[in-house]
Amino acid sequence: MPIVNRIAALHDEVTAWRRDFHEHPELQFEVHRTAGIVADKLKAFGCDEVVTGIGRTGVVGLIKGAKSTSGKVVGLRADMDALPLDEISGKPHASRIPGKMHACGHDGHTAMLLGAAKYLAETRNFDGTVAVIFQPAEEGGGGAREMVDDGLMDRFGIQEIYGMHNGPGLPVGTFALRPGPLMAAADGIRIEVEGKGGHAAQPHNSIDTVLVASQIVANIQSIASRNVDPLEHVVVSVCTFNAGFAENVIPHNAVLTGTVRTLSEAVRDATEKRLHAIVEGTAALFGATARLTYRRGAPVTANHAAEAGFAGDAAAAVVGEAAVNRAITPVMGAEDFAFMLNARPGAFIFIGQGDGPQVHHPAYDFNDEIIPLGMSYWARLVETRLPA
Ligand code: NI
Repeated sequence: MPIVNRIAALHDEVTAWRRDFHEHPELQFEVHRTAGIVADKLKAFGCDEVVTGIGRTGVVGLIKGAKSTSGKVVGLRADMDALPLDEISGKPHASRIPGKMHACGHDGHTAMLLGAAKYLAETRNFDGTVAVIFQPAEEGGGGAREMVDDGLMDRFGIQEIYGMHNGPGLPVGTFALRPGPLMAAADGIRIEVEGKGGHAAQPHNSIDTVLVASQIVANIQSIASRNVDPLEHVVVSVCTFNAGFAENVIPHNAVLTGTVRTLSEAVRDATEKRLHAIVEGTAALFGATARLTYRRGAPVTANHAAEAGFAGDAAAAVVGEAAVNRAITPVMGAEDFAFMLNARPGAFIFIGQGDGPQVHHPAYDFNDEIIPLGMSYWARLVETRLPA
């Protein structure tokens, strides 16, 4: 490459699609409008097969190369869902729907993969089959897991899987990834403490859940400092603390919620085990009871070494080797593409979005300038993994 003329020529058209998605954000699995447009466009491009309703509202398009002798199938995935917040970007194409906005750039991801599908369906300069995958509910809904559970990989014979996310703060014209753990597992915790309510002036007749819950918050911080190898990674954050209604009543119950982030399954298992011991043991120390509910979310997003190399090579073919960081520091945010990487070898890559608000900020907007780079990455990846 770098950017082929045909892809550069699609820039305005794909930008218009992206802004239309941006104006009409949809949440979780309710991406009916978006999925409908995606399916219609894939059919119009001449995809050999377009399947809807995978993982509830997911869409898959199959594009066969000019030659189909290799029998290889490569999956490319984009996410379609938005976030529940009010946009303050002030852009002409800002969200028209109160309380919903594309604050993570999934509008851009969907548009870029659609643009790549158009190019690939026109040119078919590869030997094998490409599955373009559009998933719902990336933002905490487990949409990737639902698609995998719905037979995504087996049904289409997918052998390798790739994903891409924009990275605010990474310069335009750069890509970044690493082999191994790239993003964290994200699990939810809920701790329900039961003590003995009573008069605030008679603490000796009560079991104070405010004190017990406070000790739990403090004690679980020892997991990171005392239980996990300092060279490993773990975050345990308590983010809500609810107890009591009156200044002269010792509350009978307290409820804490929070999140656990880890970069290895071993540390994840160990953290869950230690949380149970500390939560239950701390409560018992005071004569209270506490119940921990540990809810497993997305697993660690771990790139497979060989595929991370292929992805880095495809990015380098577009922007040059010097603009590809192949050893980025992992981040403790999560990405449910992890479920797909647990099902097939593959790699997830960040594409530089330039300066501006971080993802999930109310003034965030996907940078349309990077559309040809993202489309070229997909095209190059297909044409190198499925050489004609
Ligand atoms: Ni995102």
